[in-house]
Amino acid sequence: AVSIKEIFKNSQDYIEKEIAVQGWIKTVRDSNKFAFIELNDGTFFKNIQIVLESNKVENFKEIVKYPISTAIRVVGKLVTAQGAKQDFEVNAINVELLAPSTVDYPLQKKRHSFEYLRTMAHLRPRTNTFSAVFRIRSLAAFAIHKFFQEKNFVYVHAPIITASDAEGAGEMFQVTTLDMNNLPKNDNEVDFGKDFFGKKTNLTVSGQLEAEIYALAFQNVYTFGPTFRAENSNTARHAAEFWMIEPEMAFADINDNMNVAEEMVKYIINYCLENAKEEMEFFNSFIDKGLFDRLNNIVNSNFERITYTKAIELLEESGQKFDYPVKWGIDLQTEHERYITEKIFKKPVFVTDYPQEIKAFYMRRNDDGKTVAAMDLLVPGVGEIIGGSQREERLDVLEQRIKENNLDLETYWWYLELRKYGGVKHSGYGLGFERMIMYLTGMSNIRDVIAFPRTVGNAEF
Ligand code: 4AD
Ligand code: MG
Repeated sequence: AVSIKEIFKNSQDYIEKEIAVQGWIKTVRDSNKFAFIELNDGTFFKNIQIVLESNKVENFKEIVKYPISTAIRVVGKLVTAQGAKQDFEVNAINVELLAPSTVDYPLQKKRHSFEYLRTMAHLRPRTNTFSAVFRIRSLAAFAIHKFFQEKNFVYVHAPIITASDAEGAGEMFQVTTLDMNNLPKNDNEVDFGKDFFGKKTNLTVSGQLEAEIYALAFQNVYTFGPTFRAENSNTARHAAEFWMIEPEMAFADINDNMNVAEEMVKYIINYCLENAKEEMEFFNSFIDKGLFDRLNNIVNSNFERITYTKAIELLEESGQKFDYPVKWGIDLQTEHERYITEKIFKKPVFVTDYPQEIKAFYMRRNDDGKTVAAMDLLVPGVGEIIGGSQREERLDVLEQRIKENNLDLETYWWYLELRKYGGVKHSGYGLGFERMIMYLTGMSNIRDVIAFPRTVGNAEF
């Protein structure tokens, strides 16, 4: 059989020829003399139309009753079509049943809510929206690899199971080999991971610290893998399991860091606009009507760069009433982030130099003694998609920061050693992959851009 992707790409090669296609029925429309089947074979976002003439196709009466999702193989002639959705269609000669479906197939033609479809993670990839989302997700991942590989960054696979807390925030899932059918009676006997590794371990919250090891050997590296956070935030932007891209660059300061981040975001957007036209048009028409305007605006403008202190000033001067009161020292809340990007600047904004109290221990302390060389990228509609910083390379300051954060110096011994042996200035950031996909597609819930979402209270499938 020829793939539908191939037919759409090179239709001229197949016109007036007999071809075979195989796929799943999306819809059947039937009059007495003719029937029209929309067939999708999964290779392309779009369907191909099959035309059946009652007196030409055997078993016509049976075929027109096939329920949605029936798998068939069609032999027919590809012909040009007038006035149809596509410029061509298949005139069926023969239809073979490959695998039946039943009339109670849960995804009938009507539109289903995303909430309902979340309960159908095994079937939702068959819908238009999820077909488009997961093709974009795949393509964006490829674009990210292409971007970094073309810049000669080395892809490092950070471990999933680790013995350190990269963020120092204590939001980790513990790893255990406990026999759940035979739990210890006494809480003191619960020894997470110790039985296996000889020490406490957890699922990684970030590959950054390991990326730093490799940046100080290879100069420019990136990770791209799953990360896990036991945050108790039940929002449309938080998942307990999400994917992160973390470049790390030796000899780079915070400005170099922002330059790479900005170039990367624009590259991903351009790549998807150019290489997934049908899917992106779908999002622009059905999910977010302003999407193309917004994305075009982004790739053609410079991102704003302001300090945290300036951001606080702007929020205070705005006269806007926020649920969470604004004053220097607060962690910016989603409502503040969105006000800054959507109301004040109307474009992506890097906010830099946050108070050290609200940021991780590894961020480089600025000369003012109060702020650190942090940078977050905030975007309209989503909020924070990137968090990064220049790293603290001074051994004494880093030791002090670890202690100030009540973290255990022992567990970071190797991280400290990196500072002893040629520990040059270096910087990096983490892009939340799902948040990037939300931004790219206009999808508004993180649960709808990851195949199997894990969120508070939910680990279905
Ligand atoms: O700002 P975060 O916590 O930064 C780090 O983890 C650094 N170690 C990155 C680095 O410098 N290498 O997380 C980075 C990004 C956030 O901006 C956000 O996009 C995403 O990861 N993120 C989440 N995405 C979905 N669900 C969650 N629970 C997320 N937590 C963070
Ligand atoms: Mg952050």
